[in-house]
Amino acid sequence: MRGSVEHSWGWGHSAPSPLLLLTLFLFAAPFGLLGEKTRQVSLEVIPNWLGPVQNLLHIRAVGTNSTLHYIWSSLGPLAVVLVATNTPHSTLSVNWSRLLSPEPDGGLMVLPKDSIQFSSALVFTRLLEFDSTNVCDTAAKPPGTPYPPYSLADFSWNNITDSLDPATLSATFQGHPMNDPTRTFANGSLAFRVQAFSRSSRPAQPPRLLHTADTCQLEVALVGASPRGNRSLFGLEVATLGQGPDCPSVQEQHSIDDEYAPAVFQSPIVRAFFGSQNNFCAFNVTFGASTGPGYWDQHYLSWSMLLGVGFPPVDGLSPLVLGIMAVALGAPGLMLLVGGLVLLLYHKKYSEYQSIN
Ligand SMILES: *[C@@H]1O[C@H](CO)[C@@H](O)[C@H](O)[C@H]1NC(C)=O
Ligand SMILES: *[C@@H]1O[C@H](CO)[C@@H](O)[C@H](O)[C@H]1NC(C)=O
Ligand SMILES: *[C@@H]1O[C@H](CO)[C@@H](O)[C@H](O)[C@H]1NC(C)=O
Ligand SMILES: *[C@@H]1O[C@H](CO)[C@@H](O)[C@H](O)[C@H]1NC(C)=O
Ligand SMILES: *[C@@H]1O[C@H](CO)[C@@H](O)[C@H](O)[C@H]1NC(C)=O
Ligand SMILES: *[C@@H]1O[C@H](CO)[C@@H](O)[C@H](O)[C@H]1NC(C)=O
Repeated sequence: MRGSVEHSWGWGHSAPSPLLLLTLFLFAAPFGLLGEKTRQVSLEVIPNWLGPVQNLLHIRAVGTNSTLHYIWSSLGPLAVVLVATNTPHSTLSVNWSRLLSPEPDGGLMVLPKDSIQFSSALVFTRLLEFDSTNVCDTAAKPPGTPYPPYSLADFSWNNITDSLDPATLSATFQGHPMNDPTRTFANGSLAFRVQAFSRSSRPAQPPRLLHTADTCQLEVALVGASPRGNRSLFGLEVATLGQGPDCPSVQEQHSIDDEYAPAVFQSPIVRAFFGSQNNFCAFNVTFGASTGPGYWDQHYLSWSMLLGVGFPPVDGLSPLVLGIMAVALGAPGLMLLVGGLVLLLYHKKYSEYQSIN
């Protein structure tokens, strides 16, 4: 396991880039799997014939000598299990009755088991909201007084099948809290758009994170929800599997305490794949600063992330970002790159961003 690093930039800083924050997160993984130039990507929704529809999306990206499996689900909090194998023939096996049972261990398997070279998971546990009204320090952590978070385990989600787009290799989980007594989400939603790629390219829209056939892009958008204060900043709490007894030694990551762990373990797909003997680490990803601009302007905020195995696709990122990534280079593994973007600044900032890109 190598170190990882997190930095953030508030809007109040001089940095012109719309990249507000970047998290790079690496665990050791074998080199042999990496760098496939192209992959045959397929997306399938795995139906549950036994009962109520549950969203389980399997992205399979097949290269010459390896396969990447991304298994996304909104069963419990939104989560993805990432598995890399050293064969183009590995498959996903789902046992729904076990997956939906109180003991889901083994309900999700990638076969053959001995082809698995690397596996990890990310769980998006909570949407955070902070009141930054009286916060002057743009680098403050937390960036204000927290409001009660929205637990993503208590969201209701759309039918993922309806959003599946084989042409763009994408699908969108769109959700809102099941119980919303204050009606903050009456006109709002939180959407996770997942997109896979068969080859390297760069999207037209900032932050234009370069993606490769070894990565999956995730765009998280908060749209139309009513903020609970005049100066609300939003964030996401993300949990991942620790390796060994400790979390990587990074300030922003904390081992989840016992009181909190049960909520994470209600993520059935993670438990189904990894069993219950796991140590989770969590970190918060927040964007913006009280000095604005912020969500309050247009009620729109989006995060762009790249998730994958291997080296981060460094080519073409801004010098600012590269400086940070250099610290962790050298250890391919689970990679998560996060860029934040307030879309209302798109037109104003786009040219500045292009110049550093
Ligand atoms: C795939 O594996 C074979 C045999 O191990 C090797 O010769 C070949 O170079 C590998 N191809 C790629 C693209 O890694
Ligand atoms: C699925 O899991 C259930 C409960 O553990 C088990 O009884 C059943 O045999 C499994 N089905 C298959 C096809 O493996
Ligand atoms: C989800 O969408 C698919 C395709 O439109 C449909 O076949 C399926 O019945 C839907 N499920 C539910 C619960 O509406
Ligand atoms: C939702 O939108 C409708 C129509 O624009 C508006 O009348 C209503 O006040 C909004 N509700 C909330 C809670 O924002
Ligand atoms: C929001 O701003 C308005 C006008 O400045 C003020 O009256 C109101 O008390 C503020 N609300 C909160 C929750 O701070
Ligand atoms: C994320 O922020 C929330 C709200 O401030 C806090 O309760 C939680 O402990 C934070 N999580 C981590 C992993 O820092």
